[in-house]
This record gives sequence, structure tokens and C-alpha cells, in this order.
Amino acid sequence: MPLTETVTVPLGARSYSIVVGDRILADLGSAVAGVAKVGFAGLVSDEIVWARYGTVVQKSLEASGFSVRPIILAPGEGSKTLGTVASVLDELLDARPDRQSVVVALGGGVVGDIAGFAAAICLRGITFVQVPTTIVAQVDASVGGKTGVDHPCGKNLIGAFHQPSLVYADTGVLTTLPDRDIRAGMAEVAKHAVIRDPRLFCDLEQRAERFLSGLAEPSEWIELIAANCRIKALVVSADERESGLREILNYGHTTGHAIELLGSYDRFRHGEAVAYGMKVAGAIAVARASWSVQDNLRQGALLDRVITTRFPSDYRSNEVWEAMRSDKKARSGKPRFVLPTGIGNAEVVSDVTHAEFDAAWSATIASANET
Ligand SMILES: NC(=O)c1ccc[n+]([C@@H]2O[C@H](COP(=O)([O-])OP(=O)(O)OC[C@H]3O[C@@H](n4cnc5c(N)ncnc54)[C@H](O)[C@@H]3O)[C@@H](O)[C@H]2O)c1
Ligand SMILES: [Zn+2]
Repeated sequence: MPLTETVTVPLGARSYSIVVGDRILADLGSAVAGVAKVGFAGLVSDEIVWARYGTVVQKSLEASGFSVRPIILAPGEGSKTLGTVASVLDELLDARPDRQSVVVALGGGVVGDIAGFAAAICLRGITFVQVPTTIVAQVDASVGGKTGVDHPCGKNLIGAFHQPSLVYADTGVLTTLPDRDIRAGMAEVAKHAVIRDPRLFCDLEQRAERFLSGLAEPSEWIELIAANCRIKALVVSADERESGLREILNYGHTTGHAIELLGSYDRFRHGEAVAYGMKVAGAIAVARASWSVQDNLRQGALLDRVITTRFPSDYRSNEVWEAMRSDKKARSGKPRFVLPTGIGNAEVVSDVTHAEFDAAWSATIASANET
């Protein structure tokens, strides 16, 4: 029997399970049959993930009676366009689906966001199953129902809320993730720990290298991914449409998104940019005396172990500030920041001034130069 842990996302009639387990891909078909009508299944993936895991997933779905149409996309953020969604819809509609038909997303956050959006708008919403294959997707992107694509004006500007009916996370596939993607994913894990879970934070302080260097046992991975899914599930179920509590999940993302934009979504992984954003938010909070120097040092030390790329000291504070002001989450041109108040707690503020940000940016560069 493979090891598994199940986390429930309690959303009333739209509640669903997140199944986390080691080497469970071959059993996906029967799990999907538990949430969808056995019939047509559109199986969306990218070329890299498909080459490794496509066959086992397709066979498993077929063994449970599904008639599978693979829809394979080019890997990378560049695929997150309305054009790609249109081509996915062409393939889906060609198979004459009904509203009980299912779209299965096999891949990282890019595949999940595209496939989820196609499922949301195909026949005004068909059943959707997430099979996330990166850490970012397993602990974050696959849970919570945010789907969508990018627009030349910005990232994730087009989309819909569409909850999956099942999230099926096989931790065994993480063994083939490139080192940089493992590290970027662990930054989002650290984010969850800082905003919500002091025990997870201590755990990461003790064991980060086990996860980063491939020494962790399957049971440790399952425990880690499930712990993060529980955090996300609790926050999402308290505030599905992000009108309050859910905003804390954006910790590190205000500055992180600006750093990604200035790097043309190419220079940094999303998780790397989020780690830098956490450092800047930590520096702002220290300057406001709303969290301690000691906690900020602990956060910095953990992030330095996780992220090995260098802080973008070459970006000017002014250009980062301008990019943050034009982000979709800014209100009336004022960036909204999530600031830590202690390890395990955070608050949302919208009164961070340009001068405060400048000082925090400089302080973060200075501490990056020391390491
Ligand atoms: N919807 C949400 O709530 C949400 C949350 C966080 C991030 N996101 C989105 O997720 C995207 C980032 O996701 P990501 O980091 O998973 O990137 P990704 O989907 O681009 O995957 C990263 C790379 O890893 C490869 N890959 C995936 N799984 C693999 C495996 N098991 N073995 C080997 N290679 C594998 C992919 O082919 C890709 O080249 C961004 O577009 C971001 O906006 C969405
Ligand atoms: Zn993120």
C-alpha cells in the first residue's frame, strides 16, 4: 500500500480532497472516477512532464474507463496566454464534452493555471482535477481555485476562480525536479511557515537541507507537502475570494512580482522573487518595530540556505516601486504589503511609503552584500 495523507478543503458543496502520496500516479484513474463521470478526459500537460509521466497517467485513466485526449503544451511561463487557452478549448470541444467531463492538469503551476482556466470557461465550467508535479504547484498553485493566464499588460491578469474536484499530489515525481525548482518551491514553503506556522518554521530550520539535497524520505516529503496544503486549505476556506485573510498568502509577492516583471519573467523563478520580497517586507517590518530583529535574522538565514541566486541589487528602488504601484493588487496606486509580526503571524497594510520602501530595499542590498 503506498503512503498517503488526505487533506480536505472545506468549501461546502465545493469541498474537495487533496491526496498526497508517494508513487501514487498509477492509481490516479480510480481517484478521478470517484469525482467525475467516466467518459471523456482531456489530459493537459507540458512536453517535459509528459515525457516522464504522461504514459503512466494516461494508462491509469484508460484502465478506469476514461477515453483520454492528451493536450501537450510547450513548457514555461510563455505558454500562459489566451492563445494557448483557445487551442486547449479547440481540442476539448472537438471531443464533444458535457459538463461532467473532466479536464486533468498534469504538471507545474503553468499547466494547472492554463488547464484550470480552460475547464472554467468550457461549457461555463467542467470538472477539473489537478495533478501537480512541482513543489510550487503541490503546496500552492493547485489548491484554492485561482486559474488564469498572463497578458502583455501583466501576469495573471485574465482568469477565473474554478475549484478543482480533486488534487492528487505524488511526491515521488519531485525527485526529477531541477535543483532550482526545488529551491524555488521551498521558498513558498518558508513563506507559509512565516505567515502561519511557527512549528513548520522550526522544522525547516532543522531539516531544510534534507529536502534541498534529496535526502528526505518519502514520508518526510508527504508530511511537508500535506502540512503546507493544510495551511493553504484553512486560509482558502476562510476566504475563498480573497476579500480578507487570503491576502496574507501574498507575503513576499508585492515586491516579488515587481522583481519578476523587471526580470522579464526569465531572470528569476517565481519562488526566488518571493524570497527576495519576503526579505524586503521583513526589513520594512523591522523598521516599523512591528517584528523583531531576531525573527528577521532567522528568516534571512533560512532563505539564504534555500535560495542560491543573488538578490537583484542592480534594480533601482524607484523602478521596483513603480512596478509595485501598477500591480493589479495595488489599490489607487498604493502597493499593499503583507508584513510579518512574528514567526507564524502577518498583517496586511497599505500605508507603506516610498521612503520606507527605499530604506528597506537599501537595507536588503546591504545585508545581501554581507553574505
Ligand atoms: N493559481 C495559483 O494559485 C498559483 C499559485 C502559485 C503560482 N502559480 C503559477 O504557477 C506558475 C509557476 O509554477 P511552477 O513553478 O510549477 O512552474 P512550471 O509549471 O513552469 O514548472 C517548472 C518547470 O518544471 C518542469 N517540471 C514540472 N514538473 C516536473 C517534474 N516532476 N520533473 C521534472 N520537471 C518538471 C516544467 O516542465 C517546467 O519546465 C506561475 O505561472 C505562477 O503564476 C499559480
Ligand atoms: Zn507564489
